[in-house]
Amino acid sequence: RQHRQRIVAGNWKMHGSRSFVSEYVPALLGKLDTLDADTRVVLIPPSIYIGEVRAQVQNRATQQPRITWGAQNVSAEAEGAFTGEIAAEMARDQGCDYCIVGHSERRHLFAETDEVVAAKVEQIVAHGLTAIVCVGETLSQRQAGQAEQVVARQVEACLAKVPGNSWDKIVLAYEPVWAIGTGKTASAGDAQAIHASIRKVLENMQAPAQTIPLLYGGSVKPDNAEELFAQPDIDGGLVGGASLDAESFSAICRAC
Ligand code: G3P
Repeated sequence: RQHRQRIVAGNWKMHGSRSFVSEYVPALLGKLDTLDADTRVVLIPPSIYIGEVRAQVQNRATQQPRITWGAQNVSAEAEGAFTGEIAAEMARDQGCDYCIVGHSERRHLFAETDEVVAAKVEQIVAHGLTAIVCVGETLSQRQAGQAEQVVARQVEACLAKVPGNSWDKIVLAYEPVWAIGTGKTASAGDAQAIHASIRKVLENMQAPAQTIPLLYGGSVKPDNAEELFAQPDIDGGLVGGASLDAESFSAICRAC
């Protein structure tokens, strides 16, 4: 297996509260003392709580920079009259190292196209953040035997504007849509096959395919994490539901 950065990111989606942050973050950090030094843990709360997560993590300065935080989404625009949006620069200002982009919920519920995702990726890397770019096929696309093709097209389109010197600011997350929040996980073998195919796509794009971390997402749980993360092309996970429980999420982090 190539030496690549290993990452476990917790996408809280639209969950949490100030009291949740103040209980969860110290509890989680207390359980991560034995974390592998090569693994990065990224907490990704709703943007309104980023400041609170930051304060809680910074209280335990000894664990920096292995434990960090990020945003779930930013605007494709740099700044301006865009009520309700946040800019990549603002996420950076709050100390975010990572930003999720192109999550299937954004694509399906908020009509984000690959072009919008590409513009957001451009903003994210331009402001020094690392983009966690999500791709993945729907159930009908998988059943039609199109999973690899669909994912390849998304990877190419979403990374179309990455400057040649910014590939170190890219992480990809393969999240099959049918596995998100459903309790159905891709088998480790199926996930590995798509991850390997993504590396080929990256190679064809002249990107440093062997060094870009590829995460798996979709019903990652403590009892399936180890097998998934043991695959040669799976470098960690993007975790939704199970990231909201300090015990489960810490177990997943340790499995990485
Ligand atoms: O971004 C993480 C995600 O969509 C997976 O969610 O709840 O299936 O782990 P979940």
